[in-house]
Formats: sequence, C-alpha cells, structure tokens
Amino acid sequence: MAGFLKPTPGFATTAIHHGQDPEKWKCAAVVPPIVTSTTFKQPAPAEHTGYEYGRSGNPMRNTLEECMAALDGGKEGFGFASGLGATSTVLSLLSKGDHILSMDDVYGGTNRLLRQVTSRMGVEITFVDFTQLENVEKALQANTKMCWIESPTNPNLKVVDIAATVKLTRSRGEIIVVVDNTFLTSYLQRPLDFGADIVVYSLTKYMNGHSDVIMGGAVVNDKALGARLRFLQNAMGVVPSPFDCYLVNRSLKTLALRMERHKSNALTIAEWLQKHPKVVEVKHPGLPCHRHYEISKKQTCGHSGVFSFVHAGELQESRKFLSSLNIFTLAESLGGYESLAELPSVMTHASVPAKQREELGITDALIRLSVGLEDVDDLIKDLDQAFNAAFV
Ligand SMILES: *Cc1c(COP(=O)(O)O)cnc(C)c1O
Ligand SMILES: *[C@@H]1O[C@H](CO)[C@@H](O)[C@H](O)[C@H]1NC(C)=O
Repeated sequence: MAGFLKPTPGFATTAIHHGQDPEKWKCAAVVPPIVTSTTFKQPAPAEHTGYEYGRSGNPMRNTLEECMAALDGGKEGFGFASGLGATSTVLSLLSKGDHILSMDDVYGGTNRLLRQVTSRMGVEITFVDFTQLENVEKALQANTKMCWIESPTNPNLKVVDIAATVKLTRSRGEIIVVVDNTFLTSYLQRPLDFGADIVVYSLTKYMNGHSDVIMGGAVVNDKALGARLRFLQNAMGVVPSPFDCYLVNRSLKTLALRMERHKSNALTIAEWLQKHPKVVEVKHPGLPCHRHYEISKKQTCGHSGVFSFVHAGELQESRKFLSSLNIFTLAESLGGYESLAELPSVMTHASVPAKQREELGITDALIRLSVGLEDVDDLIKDLDQAFNAAFV
C-alpha cells in the first residue's frame, strides 16, 4: 500500500520461530510447564522422541495417566474429556451382537448412554441389581462380554461385592468387569485389587475435587487390554486438554487429605441425622445399620462425602428444606470441596422413568448430600435450621 512503511521483513516467521526451539525446554522447574503443543518435532521421518501428535499423547496427560494408574495399583491409566467420554470409549470395546450386564442403579448419564446410544449400535443390555448375585448369575448370557458395576450406587448407596462378582463372571468366560469408582476414588477403594479389569472415573468429582474441571479416566492392569484402550483413546479422540490434565494432576496431590475430611464430615453428619426425629432412614455405607456394611468394610477404607437420607415429609418439605439451606448449595454434582444438597427425584434422576424410580426408592423425600470440607459443626447447624424451617 503506497505511502505506508513496509512491515519488518520476516516478521511473521520471527513471531512463529524465534526463541521457540523445542530442544530448549530442559529447565529444572519444580512444577513443569504445561505443554499445550498439538505436535512434536521428529528427528527423522517416522521417528519420534516420545510424542508426535497431541491426541495420541501429551506430557501433561501422560503424567496424569501414570499417576492415576499408580494410585489404583494398575499398569496403565487413560485420560478422557469427561466421565461419560471414558464410559463411551470403554463401551466401544464391545461389538455388535455382544451383551452387557449393568448394575440397575447406575449414574443417570450411564443409564442414558446404554439405553439410547449403545443399544443402537447393536449391543444388548440388561440391567439387574448386582447386590443379589443370583440376579447376575441368571442374567449372564453366552454373548455377555462386559459387566458394568457402580459401587456404591447413586443415590441409593447400594454396595456391590466386587470380588464375588468377578469370581462369578470368571467362571463364565471372558467377561470384562468394569467398576465406576467415581464415588470413592482410588484412595478409598481399589477395584483392581479385587480382580476388576477396568476402573472408570468421572475425574470431575472427587479426583479433581475443586468443581472446575470436567474430565474422565480409566485404569487397567492388563497390558493387552491397555493396548486396546490406548487404540480407542486415539481412534475415538475423546481426549482432555493439557490444561485440565494439569489441574487434575495438581488436585491428586491433596486427594488423601480431602477424602479423609469428606469421610469424617459425612460420617459425623450421617450419625447426627440418624438421631433426628424427622429422619426416617440414612443411607450411608459407613453406618453399621447399612445393609451392605460388611461388604463395605471388606472392600473399602470407608465412605466418601456423598450419601442420602429419607425424611418424614413429602415434596413440599423437601423443597422448603433445600431452599432454607445456607452453607449447603442446592446443586447437582458431587465430590467438590463445597457442600451440596439436591433432590434426585426432580433433579439428577428426573430422566429415570417414573416406574424405575419408584422401584429404586427414589422418592420426593429422598435428599442427597455431597458433604464438603467445611467445619462439620457449621454444616450440622445449617441442616438443623433447614429442618426447623421445613417442619414447622
Ligand atoms: C458424574 C458421573 C459420571 C459422568 O461423568 P462426567 O464427568 O460428568 O461426564 C459417571 N459416573 C458417575 C458415578 C458420576 O457421578
Ligand atoms: C503435578 O502436580 C504437582 C503438584 O502441583 C507438581 O509438583 C508436579 O510437578 C506436577 N506434574 C507436572 C508434570 O506438572
């Protein structure tokens, strides 16, 4: 353009290449930099130094995957863009004509994925209550290739005997046993120790624990199964961002501390609720009166912060109770440092068909808490005043 100065020659090239030599990142930072690069320099065609393209691997993601695997006592870990991303990828191990047996009381999104997506791919699905092992035994078919366990379940806190389920399926052929371990994390329960093949996580919940990342994960113990999942992770592409991996890697450093506090806060509240005149039932696997207390003791180091209780009122009392809470926030999700409360029948489990909801006991008087890391006395005071407001 006439009359104007000419741009500096090579400006664009300089902006892209100056000071950006890939070999120089050898500084000894205690917290390494987040590598956001989508591609990695190769010394020669078809040779690489560990990384080639961000979907197949990234230093931050691999760090997190290794850490997750170690925490679960597994050989290989996998990061995904969400918990359901992990679930979709794991379900893609199945082929048309295969059958999957799933716990009846699974996470709503897992239920929806199985019923509305996986079933369209020609995979047969049966939901049964795994807490009665004879149900599993009866429902196993010649083409059963996967058993999907979630334990404890949501919002009923049913506990599935992982070792017993594995033993039963092992006697019936090559069936992959998957455990969704979101509610307890590897700190409180390690399903691979009991023979499960795959552990899946919504890292969004306790593993990250700060309510600021949506991410999923999986861990396996078997190299061959790991290779199949690694292939699917890359082929399907449901991968997380390096920044999110960084956040979860950091969060894992306080997992043990957080889970101890979630555990003790929730147990103290559950014991308090048990004595409350307006409470009919407390569903918490750490209470000796819980019907799966013995299995819980056998396979977990205690329970986390999420549990439910049934009160003596109805929908109206639930509404009043929830809107009167000050420290507990009325919200879906769980596993963060902040305490949450919700009404599954009209919130998280509204998509479960009414009939199934009734069978599962998800009534309008069932309230789910996700007890956070606050001072437990303050949480109890908050619940107490909400009861007083709801039951005048
Ligand atoms: C939240 C959750 C999921 C799904 O995870 P997203 O990260 O929300 O996709 C799966 N299983 C359980 C038990 C969950 O609580
Ligand atoms: C993971 O997080 C911890 C704690 O912040 C940090 O010391 C470690 O270097 C992190 N790893 C990477 C690869 O960032």
